[in-house]
Amino acid sequence: MLSDDLKTLLDQALGEIGTADTEALEALRVSLLGKSGSVTMLLKSLGGMDPEARKAAGAGINLLKTQITDAISARRATLDEAALTTRLAAERIDVTQPPRPEPLGAIHPISRTVEEIAAIFGAMGFAIKDGPDIENDWNNFSALNIPSHHPARAMMDTFYLTGGEVLRTHTSPVQVRTMLSEPPPIRIIVPGRTFRADHDATHSPMFHQCEGLVIEEGITLGHLKGCLSDFLSAFFGVPNLPVRLRTSYFPFTEPSMEVDIGWNKKTGEIGGGTDWLEIGGSGMVHPNVLANCGIDPRRYQGFAFGVGLERITMLKHGINDLRLFYESDVRWLRHYGFSPLSPATLHEGI
Ligand code: PHE
Repeated sequence: MLSDDLKTLLDQALGEIGTADTEALEALRVSLLGKSGSVTMLLKSLGGMDPEARKAAGAGINLLKTQITDAISARRATLDEAALTTRLAAERIDVTQPPRPEPLGAIHPISRTVEEIAAIFGAMGFAIKDGPDIENDWNNFSALNIPSHHPARAMMDTFYLTGGEVLRTHTSPVQVRTMLSEPPPIRIIVPGRTFRADHDATHSPMFHQCEGLVIEEGITLGHLKGCLSDFLSAFFGVPNLPVRLRTSYFPFTEPSMEVDIGWNKKTGEIGGGTDWLEIGGSGMVHPNVLANCGIDPRRYQGFAFGVGLERITMLKHGINDLRLFYESDVRWLRHYGFSPLSPATLHEGI
């Protein structure tokens, strides 16, 4: 039983504890139960009492202490729980939210073609190289056996920059850069942007090529044809795709050949029919080019080829206007684009 005094003290303490915040609660604890807190002082006062009085008062004061201690822990638990609830609400992540309304992006068909080419040639041991869009005249023309008076420069009419550089007309300057920077054997492909002053349904001032270059001892035209046939069969998914090498001229190769594939002009079917379609140029690297790049043509031979990436992408996917590649029309991209989640691999058949 509590005396009236203790009861008053208890009621007042419980009232204050019940509404205290964390800081106030700590202050109350100190003022009630701390070293010189009021309850502590009461407990201390027991020492000066005679045994009878101590017994009578002690029970009440201890009861008071227990009740206050319990009330403080209860209040503290309530405050802690409220703080946790507030924090959880603030840091909440709503996993039931629907995904962002924007549709997934898609891989552009030209990028996809580059990935596929990389996978096919990667399996044949080729490395991928790139070079700058802005080239010097020597890398783009002279080193490739195209002197300044040569009519081949007119065939590749390009954009000249004020410093005398050009926007590269083909990926072939990367052949030069590679031969100058590493010794044979060389096996590289060079996918990249190229530029010519042309614009219609099948020509764009900016387009893409993929160059190939192999320099090793004992390389022959047979290797060239085998390599291109394997690549084109894998790329178009047509086993034994007919490939024809047709005599042509490039200043940087000798002999030079256009690369044609068999198709059906009427239906567009690749590998069927009796028609031929040109998809690139090729040849055995001209001895002058090897010599210009510091490679002994008596010891090393090589082949090179270049294919137009828009052309083979259009053929593979039935796209009939080259300009659509560059219009950034999202509807077109959604139709012709590829999922970023299904990368090009040979074992999946490209
Ligand atoms: N560079 C040539 C072109 O753009 C293509 C080619 C590359 C031909 C390599 C032969 C060897 O027309």
